[in-house]
Amino acid sequence: MTDGARRLLILGTGAIARTHAEKFALIPGCELVAAADMNAERARDFAAAHAIPNAFGSLADAIAWDGFDAAVNSTPDAAHHPTTMQLLAAGKPVFCEKPLALNHADALQMTEAAEAAGLVNMVNLTYRNASALQTARRMIDAGEIGEVRHVQASYLQSWLTGRHWGDWRTEERWLWRLSSRHGSKGVMGDIGVHILDFATYGTGLDITGLSARMKTFDKADGGAIDVYTLDVNDSVAMTVEFANGALGVVHMSRFATGKLNDLDLLIHGDRGALKIWANHLDSSLEVCLGPDIDTQTWTPYPCPPTPRNEERFVIALLSGQNGEPDFRHATRIQKLLDLTFVADAEARTLPVD
Ligand SMILES: NC(=O)c1ccc[n+]([C@@H]2O[C@H](COP(=O)([O-])OP(=O)(O)OC[C@H]3O[C@@H](n4cnc5c(N)ncnc54)[C@H](O)[C@@H]3O)[C@@H](O)[C@H]2O)c1
Repeated sequence: MTDGARRLLILGTGAIARTHAEKFALIPGCELVAAADMNAERARDFAAAHAIPNAFGSLADAIAWDGFDAAVNSTPDAAHHPTTMQLLAAGKPVFCEKPLALNHADALQMTEAAEAAGLVNMVNLTYRNASALQTARRMIDAGEIGEVRHVQASYLQSWLTGRHWGDWRTEERWLWRLSSRHGSKGVMGDIGVHILDFATYGTGLDITGLSARMKTFDKADGGAIDVYTLDVNDSVAMTVEFANGALGVVHMSRFATGKLNDLDLLIHGDRGALKIWANHLDSSLEVCLGPDIDTQTWTPYPCPPTPRNEERFVIALLSGQNGEPDFRHATRIQKLLDLTFVADAEARTLPVD
């Protein structure tokens, strides 16, 4: 271990933890020292696969050992709040997976606990890693497209119709995402947080009002598979208003056949427009500026690389200065999430004869 390197615990050793293990292993200034999972065998296998020297069958055991400086929380959504509160109480900075919590009240409690303890707190809103998003935001801040007037944002996946990511009918990691009793908030909690972050960060504008419709489609006989009741939303369509009065549509689905994992954001300003695309591996930016406005010509725009959230977390640990996106920002996104459920429940849908 290099001098002063921060010793990291990975908590929850499922699918996303593999990405974190690979990425953190490449970052100078940190060392993966332990893996913990409520499934002790999974933790041991994970530790062995990633050359991590210690494995634990619970967070409590890892905290009792106390050989780590900070934690990467890769547990499922419902476990984020209780486990993060335990970590913060033990004085450990946390890099938490999204959504930060299951509701705004829990997210706020996590934020206030981290801030009161003066601990670094960050959330893995992954698409901040998209260089196109960061470049677009700098252009907006520099006034290159003028006043934002209209926004289209979507996050589309198709793992309910294709088998490219395995079979959701038989795999635990997909089934918990379909069941409210297992702590899922549906497509809204899973990827809605990403597209709301993408749209608000990309435009540099908060969302000040929203309406929404959510849909849960029949997916299995009796609406259940094994212990999983398939009751959460599969598709969501929102209309939103931004702080400057601009309107936007934001939609997301797991039933978007033909789309693997695509985020699209179009930002139309009164002096130009930006078209951002990203997935988990890559991103691109096209611009329509100046005289191109009269011909609707779009031109690819170069985007310098941007640090990943994992790197920003290590920088924050080493500097003691909190990084972005932090718990407080994720708590604002959580508020939008909660309000989307309220808007759906209370909205009037006008039937068309
Ligand atoms: N940022 C992203 O792009 C991204 C991508 C995928 C998943 N995620 C998020 O990462 C989290 C995990 O998703 P996943 O796909 O890796 O799930 P997963 O089901 O593959 O893995 C979760 C692991 O956590 C363990 N676990 C559950 N409760 C625990 C507890 N209390 N203590 C210790 N271990 C516990 C489980 O045994 C399992 O091994 C979710 O919150 C998900 O939303 C984020």
